[in-house]
Amino acid sequence: MVPPKYFVPARYAAFVRRRAALARYDLVDVQAMERKKFALAGLDPDAGRARLDSVLLSLSGKRFDHVSGTDSVHWLLFACISLTDWGRGVRDILEIGTFRGKTTVILRALFPQAQIVTCDLPDEDPILASSYRRGDPAVLAEYKQMRDSRVSQDGIRFVQANSFFLPQKAPGPYDLIWMDGGHLYPEVAWDMCNAWHMCRPGGKVLCDDVYTDPKGGGAYASAAGFDVINYLATRTPVEVIHFIKRENPAWAADTRQCKYVSMLHKPAGV
Ligand SMILES: C[S@@+](CC[C@H](N)C(=O)[O-])C[C@H]1O[C@@H](n2cnc3c(N)ncnc32)[C@H](O)[C@@H]1O
Repeated sequence: MVPPKYFVPARYAAFVRRRAALARYDLVDVQAMERKKFALAGLDPDAGRARLDSVLLSLSGKRFDHVSGTDSVHWLLFACISLTDWGRGVRDILEIGTFRGKTTVILRALFPQAQIVTCDLPDEDPILASSYRRGDPAVLAEYKQMRDSRVSQDGIRFVQANSFFLPQKAPGPYDLIWMDGGHLYPEVAWDMCNAWHMCRPGGKVLCDDVYTDPKGGGAYASAAGFDVINYLATRTPVEVIHFIKRENPAWAADTRQCKYVSMLHKPAGV
């Protein structure tokens, strides 16, 4: 049989792999495994969930949903951390990759005692216009209006710079760092290097969109973040836990394309 003109073997293989993965996916097992990771990290997901829901309801009228929806586990992790003794003492937070400032305002609500520095690209950086449809003037204007209205709150400082220059522009130190800028090589390598050095001993770095399969990835992320974390783990006593970003089967079932939020703890004294 001659395959149709539009038949692309790699796409067909991905389709078959994904369909088989969806059939195998066991949400109950996955949730049990993820709960063990929270316990290992000393975090209470039920208490965190209640706190996060109250913050999200006041900000957007919606509850957290990463099972049937597309919310990401980093919000839940931040909520859990904010309830710990250590979290209540967090004073300085860095976010790399502000985008529309949604996580920035959630961090602000969860850690009202902290100062937040959030960084995104300057207007003239070519990556700004070439990503997230910001080359379209209408999209760009709406994006900037939303971002600026959110980062203008008290307790938030917006640094408009490529994260390469963060050690000069906003050297910290920080207790908690949210790494959510460029997830491809080379950005992810300098972001992790800077984050590790700017993080106080005893602090935490959370890194978004980590693919653990070398063949996983897409336009905005790859397994490069995982490689950098493993590089660091080989040379430092960093403690790492990889949390599934979304338990939603459409996102998590295909292990090649499943994304993680990696939580790195920098031990005291390092
Ligand atoms: C996925 S979005 C961030 C989402 C946001 N943290 C949130 O949770 O809502 C990634 C952002 O990182 C920014 N970015 C990419 N590379 C960067 C770099 N080298 N320096 C600073 N920001 C960067 C992009 O412009 C984009 O706005």
